Amino acid sequence: MTSSPFTSRHEENPNPLAAEQRIAILENPGFGNYFTDHMFLAEWTPDTDWTDARIVPYGPLSLDPATAVLHYAQEIFEGMKAYAHADGSVWVFRPDANAARMQRSAHRLALPELPVDWFLGSITALIEADRDWVPVGEEKSLYIRPFMFASEVFLGVRPSKHVTYSVIASPAGAYFKGGLKPVSIWLSTEFSRAAAGGTGAAKCGGNYAASLLPQQQATAQGCDQVAFLDSAEHKWVEELGGMNLYFVQDDGSVVTPELSGSILEGITRDSILTLAADLGHEVIQRKVSIDEWREGTASGKITEIFACGTAAVVTPVGVLKWVGGEAVSADGTGADAGAGKVTTDIRSALVDIQYGRAEDRHDWMHRVC
Ligand code: PLP
Ligand code: COI
Repeated sequence: MTSSPFTSRHEENPNPLAAEQRIAILENPGFGNYFTDHMFLAEWTPDTDWTDARIVPYGPLSLDPATAVLHYAQEIFEGMKAYAHADGSVWVFRPDANAARMQRSAHRLALPELPVDWFLGSITALIEADRDWVPVGEEKSLYIRPFMFASEVFLGVRPSKHVTYSVIASPAGAYFKGGLKPVSIWLSTEFSRAAAGGTGAAKCGGNYAASLLPQQQATAQGCDQVAFLDSAEHKWVEELGGMNLYFVQDDGSVVTPELSGSILEGITRDSILTLAADLGHEVIQRKVSIDEWREGTASGKITEIFACGTAAVVTPVGVLKWVGGEAVSADGTGADAGAGKVTTDIRSALVDIQYGRAEDRHDWMHRVC
C-alpha cells in the first residue's frame, strides 16, 4: 500500500520572498512569470511505487545530461487554478477531473499513474504551504502546475524506471493582455498539432513543442493564437494551441468540435457543456469544418466564437486569418469590440462558481484551506 502524501516531509523555505515584494507581484502577476516559495516533489520506481513525497523550497532541479526526459520527452503536465473566496477560504475547480486526465496522459506516455489521493494531497500540501501567494481579486488566481517526467539516467528508448512528479504554483492574472477583448487567430494550413493515434488527447509537453512554430507564424501574422485542423483531411477544426473552441449559432445553440482522439479534453470545455445547458442553450458536440467557420461568420449563422481553457478562462475570438483572407466574427475587431452576450453569460456562470459568487450546483469546487 502506497503511503499518502499527506504525511510528506516538509522543509520550510528559509528565505521566502519578502512580504512587500510578494504583495507587489500579486498586484499584477501576468501569467507564468513568478513562482511561490515552495514546491512538491515525489519519486517513483517500479520497486518502490510512489515515494518520498515532500514539500521543499522552490528551486532548480539538478539533472544529469543523460536524464531520459531531456532526450525522449516522456513528460506530462496539468493546469488548474486555486481561487480565493470572499471569506478568505481557498478552493480549486474540479481537481478530480485534472487527476483523472493526468492518469489518462500517463497511460499514453507509458508513465506510472499517480493515485488520485496523491494528486489531491500534493496540490493541497503546496497550496497550504504557499497560501499567502493566492492573489485576491477579479481575474486573479494561483495557477497550479503538476507535472511528471522521466528522470532515469539512461539513453535507451524505453519507459523510464525512475519518474519524478512535482507541483509548482504561479500567481496569475489574465492570460491575454487585452482582458476581455477578442483575440485574433491564425489558421495553420501547413501544420497540425496532433494526429489520429498520436498524443493530442494527452497533456504532454511534446504537443506544445509541436505548436510553437505555428504559434510563431501566428505571431508574425499579428495574431494572438493559432488554430489547428485535423491532420488527415485538413478540414475539421480541432482546437487552438492551448484552448478549446466554441461556436454560438443564430438559433442560440452552442457547438464545440467533438472529441476526435487528437483534441485535448478540456475541463473548461466539459464544464461549459453543462453550464450552457443550464443557461437554456442547446449544446452540440459535432465536427465543425473550417468552411463552416468562414461561411458562418460571413452569413451570420455563427454569431459568437470563444476559446476556453484554464489559463484563458473564456475569451472571445474576433477574427480568423489565413493566407490571403480573413473571417471576422460579429463581435468584431475594432476598438470597442468585446464579448458577445452568450460568451459573457457563459463566462460569468463559470467564474461566479469559481470565485464563490454563485451556488456550486454541480459540486465542482474543492476546498483546500
Ligand atoms: N487544449 C489545449 C491544447 C490545452 O493546453 C488546454 C489547457 O489546458 C485546453 C485545451 C483547455 O483545457 P482545460 O480547460 O482543462 O484547461
Ligand atoms: C492551461 O490552460 O492550463 C494550459 O495548460 C494552457 C497553456 C497555454 C498555459
